[in-house]
Amino acid sequence: MSFTTNLIYLIISCTTLHHSLGLSPVILIPGDGGSQLEARLNKSSVIHYICAKTSADYFNIWLNLELLVPFVIDCWIDNTRLEYNNITRTTKNPPGVDIRVPGWGNPEPVEWLDPSHDKSGAYFNTIADALVKVGYVRNISIRGAPYDFRRAPNENQDFFVKLKSLIEETYTLNNKSAVTLLVHSMGGKMAFNFLQIQKQSWKDQYIRRLISLSTPWAGSMKALKVFAIGDDLGSLVLRESIMRTQQITCPSLAWLLPSSLFWKPSEVLVQTDKFNYTIKDLQKLFTDMDLPNAWEMHKDTQKYTADFTPPGVEVHCIYGYNITTVERLVYKPGAWLDGYPQLVGGDGDGTVNARSLAACRRWAGGAARPVTALPLPNAEHLKILHDQRAIDYISSVMLGN
Ligand SMILES: *[C@@H]1O[C@H](CO)[C@@H](O)[C@H](O)[C@H]1NC(C)=O
Ligand SMILES: *[C@@H]1O[C@H](CO)[C@@H](O)[C@H](O)[C@H]1NC(C)=O
Ligand SMILES: *[C@@H]1O[C@H](CO)[C@@H](O)[C@H](O)[C@H]1NC(C)=O
Ligand SMILES: *[C@@H]1O[C@H](CO)[C@@H](O)[C@H](O)[C@H]1NC(C)=O
Ligand SMILES: *[C@@H]1O[C@H](CO)[C@@H](O)[C@H](O)[C@H]1NC(C)=O
Ligand SMILES: *[C@@H]1O[C@H](CO)[C@@H](O)[C@H](O)[C@H]1NC(C)=O
Repeated sequence: MSFTTNLIYLIISCTTLHHSLGLSPVILIPGDGGSQLEARLNKSSVIHYICAKTSADYFNIWLNLELLVPFVIDCWIDNTRLEYNNITRTTKNPPGVDIRVPGWGNPEPVEWLDPSHDKSGAYFNTIADALVKVGYVRNISIRGAPYDFRRAPNENQDFFVKLKSLIEETYTLNNKSAVTLLVHSMGGKMAFNFLQIQKQSWKDQYIRRLISLSTPWAGSMKALKVFAIGDDLGSLVLRESIMRTQQITCPSLAWLLPSSLFWKPSEVLVQTDKFNYTIKDLQKLFTDMDLPNAWEMHKDTQKYTADFTPPGVEVHCIYGYNITTVERLVYKPGAWLDGYPQLVGGDGDGTVNARSLAACRRWAGGAARPVTALPLPNAEHLKILHDQRAIDYISSVMLGN
């Protein structure tokens, strides 16, 4: 064998070894609405005669297209809404409804929001497919960590405990390779909160890096817009005012409100002819909107947004910009907080304001772990999950190890 052949042989064998031992396994953490949910019903009353009172077993309820049609949507809302108790400061499902998050550890329920794999519910599937192409294996080096996204960290403490075990288990399963947390949207805030409560020595051993897509690190004005008028999830068949009935019962929405660390008291968020509301006036705003629970739920979650110190791991922060994103609600004179406000736009990814997406940059420098930001023009909040630029970047980071 010539020297060159030897060298090539050496390079090939090292690469092979590197791939079987060195790939950092990936745990996918989804955002708001980013996993399957299952329900079982045993209700004594329903709001409409077409609504089922009972179900023999658990069935898929989240973004099931058969349930999101007129009239049937009312049953859906009455099953997926939460009831808040301002004394215990917790939520529960309506009487006779049991909801669970299926498939802990398995990537499938976060790759597809609909178990039939209808392409309208495609979520982490494109990224998982790209990882499989470079040597990853589902259930071994690609795992999923879903949670009840209707709730905020104060009611998801169990998730943080389970995530720690899943990380340790995945590390062991992959020949002691530190884990990459690959997160989207609110999943990034869940991961950030998780990392903040772990010891640095534990993170150094078990966490290789955090790769985040579209995370609203500092909240979003969109959450306030949803409290005010609801959101149609980008669908032409859903009415935002109807969806709002369910959306405003979710503590996670109150957790996603803009952060006072990133919005100045001089900036008007909601403009009316009687009063201009800033970040300092959220309590008054929710009182005036007749949404007292929104304020209470927001208070419950403030503990989880107060600390913005770096997470103590390497961060790759990918996000879109150059898409109009709601920045302010302007009500017509005399309209008070009724009616439909004009949505004044600013920069962002269509859902999250630019300043919140880019907030991860604050962690760069000093003694902190490296932070790389990858702003992508016109990468929309959800579509970024299927954006070739994001996928190529993720693949190169994962293989560069
Ligand atoms: C772990 O290492 C063993 C041998 O040391 C190898 O057979 C196995 O394929 C490796 N597993 C992974 C997931 O890399
Ligand atoms: C349904 O609820 C009723 C009481 O409301 C109870 O008697 C019955 O056992 C429940 N059925 C199931 C399958 O849990
Ligand atoms: C708590 O809820 C009760 C019953 O809905 C209501 O009367 C009371 O005003 C609420 N308190 C606060 C602080 O929102
Ligand atoms: C992953 O594991 C789950 C639960 O054990 C199983 O249902 C699923 O088919 C597995 N997926 C793959 C791709 O092997
Ligand atoms: C609210 O702000 C707008 C725009 O800056 C201003 O024209 C209006 O007078 C303000 N309204 C009140 C009640 O302060
Ligand atoms: C911003 O988006 C517009 C289309 O909405 C496009 O024409 C423009 O080139 C984009 N700017 C950048 C920097 O990509």
